[in-house]
Amino acid sequence: MSLLTVSDLTVSTADGRTLVDGLSFSIAKGHRLGLIGESGSGKSLTALAVTGLLPPGLRASGTVLLDGTPVIGANERSLNRLRGRVAAVVFQEPSTALDPLMRLGNQVAEPLRRHQGLRGAALRAAVASALEEVALPARVAHAYPHEVSGGQRQRAAIAMALACRPALLIADEPTTALDVTVQAEVLALLDRLVAAHDMALLFVSHDLAVVGKVTDEVVVLSSGRAVRTGPLRAILADPQDDYTAALVASARRLDEALGGAL
Ligand SMILES: Nc1ncnc2c1ncn2[C@@H]1O[C@H](COP(=O)(O)OP(=O)(O)OP(=O)(O)O)[C@@H](O)[C@H]1O
Ligand SMILES: [Mg+2]
Repeated sequence: MSLLTVSDLTVSTADGRTLVDGLSFSIAKGHRLGLIGESGSGKSLTALAVTGLLPPGLRASGTVLLDGTPVIGANERSLNRLRGRVAAVVFQEPSTALDPLMRLGNQVAEPLRRHQGLRGAALRAAVASALEEVALPARVAHAYPHEVSGGQRQRAAIAMALACRPALLIADEPTTALDVTVQAEVLALLDRLVAAHDMALLFVSHDLAVVGKVTDEVVVLSSGRAVRTGPLRAILADPQDDYTAALVASARRLDEALGGAL
């Protein structure tokens, strides 16, 4: 059975505009999928709909099953049981996930307390190991988000997302807001952690070259619709439609500039 099944997912506004249109895909346990498309194509709304986090005013229809549990129409209580444990999200802006008024160690502790019931010394040890896993120095636990670098903030957000060992990690442009060198480090970290813990990954990006570093299978999204689904290699070899060809061309330009071999 799939860990994530999305079928005929549609997201629309109250006044009837369709933003995601009949999207279907699935991810099996331990597998990876890239969701790629230009700005405004509906990638983030898809990621949010999958975890029941759509902003007020938007409506989802269709079916989303997370580990067999329906997400669309589910109440907050059953969604909270899934979040962090079955699926966790890392956003483009680490500040989205972090509370500016709370020390980072306490924020990483939150899901461990809630889902695993850890307290006291056991909780402190789990926080320390979660920070160590993302290569953050122990002192970061005492820092507030604004006291660390952007890369460190994203590492802390990753530590929080992974604290309860979710079966599925959803990463929505997790490196886009970072400096280029930090981007590569954070991407490599995510890649390593997802592999080490045998997690499934839904990786969202506008950049094929970045997606290609972490996954072989992609869905190409255009104006809320899937225009292509399949192995990245086949899409690079034969983009078929103009939209996908443009994504491939821009990825090749970027990759060449970076000295890569896409
Ligand atoms: N709360 C909202 N209300 C109305 N329209 C919205 C809302 N959020 C997003 N949209 C619209 O839905 C479309 C898809 O948005 P989405 O954020 O999913 O795009 P995206 O593919 O993630 O783009 P980007 O690469 O820029 O992050 C866009 O046209 C956007 O303007
Ligand atoms: Mg987005």
